[in-house]
Amino acid sequence: MSSQQTFRIGILGSGKGSNALAIIDACASGAIPAQVAVVVSDVAEAGILEKARAKGLNAQHIEPGKFRTKLDDAAEVAFIKALQDAKVDLVVLAGFMRILKGEFLRVFKDRVINIHPSLLPSFPGLDAWKQALDYGVKFTGVTVHFVDQGIDTGPIIAQETVPILQGDTAETLHKRIQETEHRLYPAAVAALARGDVAVRGRQTIWKQTSGI
Ligand code: GRF
Repeated sequence: MSSQQTFRIGILGSGKGSNALAIIDACASGAIPAQVAVVVSDVAEAGILEKARAKGLNAQHIEPGKFRTKLDDAAEVAFIKALQDAKVDLVVLAGFMRILKGEFLRVFKDRVINIHPSLLPSFPGLDAWKQALDYGVKFTGVTVHFVDQGIDTGPIIAQETVPILQGDTAETLHKRIQETEHRLYPAAVAALARGDVAVRGRQTIWKQTSGI
């Protein structure tokens, strides 16, 4: 990409889209030097599509096919095509509830990132804030990571801790985790858009001038 071209982001999500909105707003304000080129969801009525459309963005629903936790082959092709048609440089998962593997990760090698509501490698998988609360840890947090073939296992880009307070419920803890996500994810995407982060095996290398 030449320095003249705008860095282009594709966002995939299945839910309410609060992280997508934080990234969309950060692009609009210039805090992220990029534009959201397309938003795609496997759920027709997902809030993420509504929020993207309200901002005038290209927002598409693509049928995921017959499986519950992954895309079928035809759907994978359709998702790849939508992102390629939008010429995205980076694929940002924001509450996308399907596992991406194989061809998708080959096409977008080292260009797919995710946000997870715990300090990985603790508490991968669903409802990570509830897992942390049930386990009794005193700190949990948020992780932004590259996506690989595993579940929440890719190289870590950024993390921030969130304390678990006396009296926290799943709801109060999740709310504080999401507030952290809405700060950390745009900051991480901005660093990637600036070219400040490189991945070498399991390590991510940050330029010294950058940092979250
Ligand atoms: C976030 O909590 C994120 O950590 C997880 O899915 C949730 C998506 O929430 N991967 P939203 O749709 O961005 O509000």
